[in-house]
Amino acid sequence: MKNAKIVLGVSAGIAVYKAVEILRLLVKEGADVRVVMSANAGQFVTPLTFEALSGNPVYHTLFDSQNSADMEHIRVAENADLLVVAPATASMLGKMAHGLADDALSNLYLAFKGSVLIAPAMNEGMWGHPAVRENIGLLKSRGLEFVDPEYGELACGVTGPGRLADTSVILEKIRSFFNQRNDLNGMRFLVTAGPTHEPIDPVRYLSNPSSGKMGYAIAEQAKTRGGEVVLISGPTSLKPPSGVNFKPCKTADEMNSLVQECLQNCDVLIMSAAVGDFSPEKLEKEKIKKQGNEGLVLKLVPTKDILLEVAQRNLGKLVVGFAAETQNLVESALEKLKKKNLDLIVANDISAPGIGFQSDSNQVTIIDRDENIENLPLKPKRDIADLLLDRILSLLKSPEL
Ligand SMILES: Cc1cc2nc3c(=O)[nH]c(=O)nc-3n(C[C@H](O)[C@H](O)[C@H](O)COP(=O)(O)O)c2cc1C
Repeated sequence: MKNAKIVLGVSAGIAVYKAVEILRLLVKEGADVRVVMSANAGQFVTPLTFEALSGNPVYHTLFDSQNSADMEHIRVAENADLLVVAPATASMLGKMAHGLADDALSNLYLAFKGSVLIAPAMNEGMWGHPAVRENIGLLKSRGLEFVDPEYGELACGVTGPGRLADTSVILEKIRSFFNQRNDLNGMRFLVTAGPTHEPIDPVRYLSNPSSGKMGYAIAEQAKTRGGEVVLISGPTSLKPPSGVNFKPCKTADEMNSLVQECLQNCDVLIMSAAVGDFSPEKLEKEKIKKQGNEGLVLKLVPTKDILLEVAQRNLGKLVVGFAAETQNLVESALEKLKKKNLDLIVANDISAPGIGFQSDSNQVTIIDRDENIENLPLKPKRDIADLLLDRILSLLKSPEL
């Protein structure tokens, strides 16, 4: 875990003293750990203990003038790969599930974009309460990982489930997170994302509502898992993930040139951009003026088909396409898979509410060359990205490729 950047979130359970041990072992293994405490956690162990062991300042108060001026919760959240909340109280689980942010830890959690591992600990009655069960279900459905508590003697004197998982179990889970993270070491990814803008005149363009979130999530996860990543992106409002080689573009033509230029130096091409299919035949040099009630007829011509061009060059790369469809999802995706000689296609129904273009979650179907169809459940785009990368990894390892 050398140089692994971890935030250890501590909330106010009796097991806080075990968080001290978790911190000590993480530091011993070379991890760079920042501790963030809920307002109540300091009732059990002082921030000073965590500060001394981590060698880093501990973020524990929201309204400290220095922390507030530095927007500490955003800064800590931006710089970490994994947030481990141990122990997680029933109250903290509730806040996380419902987006409440009234202390340092719950604020940081909301600002954090990386993976989250939660180790709950509480009295067995609390653990079994429907409110706690529902909160855990909600957090799991958003892709958060859990290390469930153990059965045993609890601080309140009863025996049952609720005792914080053994430190070694939590450590193992953290280790496997970082080991898995390096499974794409040495692989070179070329990812496209976002929409394209096809200009009509100097102030207008044709485009689509793609936010770029899916492609950016793929680029970020490929990088986090050790891959080398070039991200070619149409115009979006997203910040490029750190460590990726970012190449911005506007039009389908520009995107095509960049893809063809970078293709030679990649092992895997993932075309998740929503590339415009048509562009105006003529680009007006001056802004087109409105002429009373007269309409405007635009002649559109097809843009270059990037994937078809890639297929024709036949460079032997593993190629993944995306199909955003509003009808006959699987049939249309299969047709595209064959026509463009793809290894995998990711199809999603953009007409379904809550998924697709702008949202943070997606529900996709992955189809491979042998027409194996895998319907994935609704998941955050980051999890979809990881699952897709898992499929790509097993294809790369398969002897037939
Ligand atoms: C001695 C003591 C031990 C506690 N242990 C736990 C615990 O193990 N798990 C839990 O969920 N709450 C426990 N609580 C209750 C929490 O401290 C309480 O819900 C608190 O508001 C949680 O604050 P936080 O989640 O913001 O850190 C305990 C309270 C006391 C007084």
